[in-house]
Amino acid sequence: MSMHVAIIMDGNGRWATGQGRRREWGHRRGAEAVRRVVRAAPDLGIDALTLYAFSSDNWSRPAAEVGLLFRLFERYLGREAAELKENGVALRVVGRRDRLSPQLVAAIERAESETRGGQRMTLRVAVDYSSRHALLEAVRNVAAQHGLAADRPDLSAALGRAMHAGGPSPDVDLLIRTGGEKRLSDFLLWECAYAELLFTPKMWPDYTGEDLAAAIREYASRDRRFGKVKLAG
Ligand code: IPE
Ligand code: IPE
Ligand code: MG
Repeated sequence: MSMHVAIIMDGNGRWATGQGRRREWGHRRGAEAVRRVVRAAPDLGIDALTLYAFSSDNWSRPAAEVGLLFRLFERYLGREAAELKENGVALRVVGRRDRLSPQLVAAIERAESETRGGQRMTLRVAVDYSSRHALLEAVRNVAAQHGLAADRPDLSAALGRAMHAGGPSPDVDLLIRTGGEKRLSDFLLWECAYAELLFTPKMWPDYTGEDLAAAIREYASRDRRFGKVKLAG
């Protein structure tokens, strides 16, 4: 069984301010939660894990917070690539790269090439990611390549391919959002067409591998119908 889990890692700021600390502290601890979850995931039958790390709308945050988030991400890439490789995890960063610093883009490319060939799981980290932007870009590319006269089934397949030019993305099976909010915040709108949704009040820095295991058990108990009628018997 192949399984794609996507996580909106939310609640770092509230976790920290709730303890009278600065939001930055929450982001630092959030990075540790990422490590825990990435270690736990392959053994839970997850073969693709997509983590929402920075949305295109997150550029609107104070410059100091944005700067810290990118420093943490760059540090993660530098420190974790070797372990990811050792664990058979292939890293892919999805989202726009044209607004990232050349230094960060280079770090991303290094980590991707170092972990290329990982067979146990693909870890996709969404950075400067906007699902609407991804869709619009895909439409633009398909229109430029094929013209808009392509018939509908072709157009849908071509769009799917164009959206994942950097590497394939299966449809999301399970979408988890921590931090209590119940919204998608421009994440994987296309890929979540039939995703099971799981919202938890737990803040991201508190999230553990056991929480992920519990989420997978909950997912396994759901009845996915994909628009069909369940046959009796
Ligand atoms: C998620 O936590 C991390 C990012 C969006 C980068 P937040 O920073 O959104 O934390 P809250 O939602 O304000 O608590
Ligand atoms: C979504 O969280 C983005 C990430 C987790 C990276 P936000 O905290 O930015 O989303 P909103 O603003 O609550 O919708
Ligand atoms: Mg948030």
